[in-house]
Amino acid sequence: MVFGVVGCAEERSRPDAGSTELRVHPLGILDPASELFHGKELERHDWSFKLCAKCHGDNLDGGKAKVSCLTCHRQGPTACTTCHRDGPTTNAHLVHRVSGKLECRECHAVPATWDAEGHILRDGHADPAPAEVTFGALANGALVPADRAGPAEFADGRCTNVYCHGAALHAGGGTMTAPRWDDATPAGSCTGCHGAPPPSHAQSACASCHPANAPHVDGVVQIGATSGCDGCHGSAASPAPPRDLTGHEFTTAIGVGAHQAHLNASGLRGPIPCATCHLVPASLTSPGHLDSALPAEVEPSLGWNRTTQTCTTAYCHGTARPVWTSSGQVTCGSCHGVPPATASHTAGMPITECVTCHPRSVTPQGSILFVNGTTAHLDGDVDVF
Ligand code: HEC
Ligand code: HEC
Ligand code: HEC
Ligand code: HEC
Ligand code: HEC
Ligand code: HEC
Ligand code: HEC
Ligand code: HEC
Ligand code: HEC
Ligand code: HEC
Repeated sequence: MVFGVVGCAEERSRPDAGSTELRVHPLGILDPASELFHGKELERHDWSFKLCAKCHGDNLDGGKAKVSCLTCHRQGPTACTTCHRDGPTTNAHLVHRVSGKLECRECHAVPATWDAEGHILRDGHADPAPAEVTFGALANGALVPADRAGPAEFADGRCTNVYCHGAALHAGGGTMTAPRWDDATPAGSCTGCHGAPPPSHAQSACASCHPANAPHVDGVVQIGATSGCDGCHGSAASPAPPRDLTGHEFTTAIGVGAHQAHLNASGLRGPIPCATCHLVPASLTSPGHLDSALPAEVEPSLGWNRTTQTCTTAYCHGTARPVWTSSGQVTCGSCHGVPPATASHTAGMPITECVTCHPRSVTPQGSILFVNGTTAHLDGDVDVF
């Protein structure tokens, strides 16, 4: 008999098709669906490649059989890819490997060589199914060690105490934390592994606090884009918006508004600290910071009205009520008269005259007087002489 080069996918044509008489192997040796398939034959013989080598050569490259295994298995019959191709796609393998980008070692002890003990051989015999599941670091992790009830386990087709599915997630509140490997929709959408948001949370706009592109199920809860106070609002220069919690940069957004106009010194006054308008948290988890629903709280004495976007009782603006998201509403005459209509002043008094009685607040030209960056103007006291 003469053996030609045989295609990997198709059985070669034989003159003796239908007859097994002249053949060493039965028909079906090349049919993966057949019980007589050579892969199954190998398993039945405890994966003894040595047996095949008797006829197919010591290196399985032909031998007296004159059929080389390498014709069809270029990497060699014992290469990982010969038996596993690009990796298993059974049950939840695909979703974990593709969407979850998980390596085999997160769930299995990966053999260094095909014949490593416990892989497909155990005590010299074929290791019977099922495959061993040995969880790695991720599944055995925990944000708070005390939240772990026991080691991650795979039993009766189900994963238990697995970090990834929220079983060891601090106060996670997931509804499906012990999924079945053969369940077609095991994760149970966003609420399967943890609440959306988890029960500890007072707010649900995830992206305000967790960067939208944060790596997910990586063993770390990503909070804020940076580790500083500007992680969720503000910029490197200041934790005050812009940007606001929804990413807005323009003063027309209520979260941004006139923050910078107040925080930066202007020709009218020095900087106004956050504490004038907010309870300032000493740390991320300080009371009053993240523990209530949006919007951000504004110091009650200012009478902040979100609908009109004005501070209805703020001392600073006198009786004027400039709108938080507008600009150009504040001039010398907008908070008090120039001069005010009180007995101490005469109507029509020019602005250059104010300095006579208010020398600590204004210059002879009628602009606000600054000494070392501070001014007596708008400091809560009427300064006369
Ligand atoms: C006794 C010698 C002998 C042994 C042992 C042997 N083979 Fe073969 N094998 C042959 C011969 C001869 C052929 C050529 C086709 C034939 O005669 O069936 C062949 C062909 C093959 C083919 C190609 C089949 C085809 O139709 O083209 C495969 C696949 C194969 N062997 C796999 C194995 C495997 C796997 C083992 C070990 C479990 C093994 N063989 C053990 C002699 C042997
Ligand atoms: C004519 C082509 C051909 C030859 C020659 C061939 N094989 Fe294969 N082999 C295949 C095909 C096709 C598969 C199935 C691959 C698949 O399902 O992706 C396979 C699968 C295997 C597998 C994997 C079995 C499993 O359980 O996944 C092993 C191991 C293997 N062959 C060993 C051998 C050995 C040893 C030889 C030489 C003695 C040999 N093959 C010769 C075509 C061949
Ligand atoms: C998320 C966990 C997980 C990952 C990642 C994973 N497996 Fe599995 N694997 C399992 C589970 C669970 C089983 C089923 C075990 C059982 O039936 O008892 C399994 C079964 C298997 C089986 C037996 C056949 C089958 O398809 O059920 C093989 C082979 C296997 N895995 C190989 C791999 C390889 C190779 C990789 C990496 C490319 C991998 N697995 C990645 C969890 C995983
Ligand atoms: C000859 C075929 C074959 C080769 C070669 C092979 N495997 Fe496997 N592998 C299997 C089979 C079959 C199983 C399922 C074993 C079971 O059910 O216990 C398996 C299981 C696995 C598993 C699941 C854990 C386990 O041990 O059950 C991993 C991971 C794995 N193989 C990785 C590899 C790697 C990496 C290589 C290359 C170094 C490799 N395999 C080479 C056939 C093979
Ligand atoms: C106001 C800020 C904020 C918002 C909005 C927010 N988180 Fe969190 N999240 C945190 C902080 C801070 C932690 C860590 C401290 C803790 O455990 O509460 C955290 C922790 C988590 C954890 C780890 C488990 C836990 O409870 O500690 C998960 C899961 C989580 N968040 C998911 C979400 C999801 C999903 C959303 C949107 C539906 C969301 N978060 C919205 C601030 C926030
Ligand atoms: C398979 C389980 C699982 C599912 C399903 C899941 N999560 Fe998570 N999620 C986690 C785990 C575990 C954490 C804890 C932090 C980590 O390890 O990344 C987390 C953390 C988060 C966080 C906090 C930021 C971070 O990644 O650190 C947000 C936000 C979040 N998830 C949103 C979602 C949303 C939105 C969905 C639905 C599309 C969802 N999660 C579905 C497991 C899951
Ligand atoms: C002049 C008063 C004032 C000052 C000073 C001020 N804020 Fe605000 N802040 C406001 C107002 C008004 C809002 C809008 C509240 C609302 O949405 O109802 C606000 C909202 C916020 C918000 C929520 C943004 C959003 O997207 O909803 C954050 C965060 C914030 N301020 C941080 C700061 C920080 C940090 C400072 C100091 C560096 C500061 N603010 C200084 C008045 C002020
Ligand atoms: C994880 C995201 C995040 C980080 C980091 C963060 N904040 Fe906030 N901050 C918020 C959210 C969300 C609000 C809106 C809170 C609300 O609804 O009351 C807010 C509001 C504020 C406000 C307005 C007052 C209030 O509590 O509503 C101030 C002031 C403030 N943060 C200062 C800070 C300071 C100072 C730091 C650093 C210690 C900081 N923030 C770090 C998310 C964050
Ligand atoms: C002749 C002295 C004198 C001159 C000139 C003068 N002021 Fe006054 N101003 C006072 C005195 C006294 C008070 C405190 C009593 C009062 O509120 O009438 C005062 C108070 C004020 C107050 C606080 C009003 C309030 O209701 O609390 C403002 C604002 C003010 N002046 C602005 C001006 C401006 C602007 C000018 C220049 C156009 C000016 N003053 C010129 C004497 C003067
Ligand atoms: C944002 C509102 C506001 C604007 C705009 C404003 N003022 Fe005032 N001004 C006040 C308040 C409030 C007082 C009351 C005393 C205090 O807190 O300093 C005051 C007080 C004064 C006084 C009395 C002296 C003092 O400091 O108490 C003078 C003079 C004065 N302003 C001049 C001016 C001039 C000139 C301009 C324009 C360059 C101006 N103001 C713009 C709010 C404003």
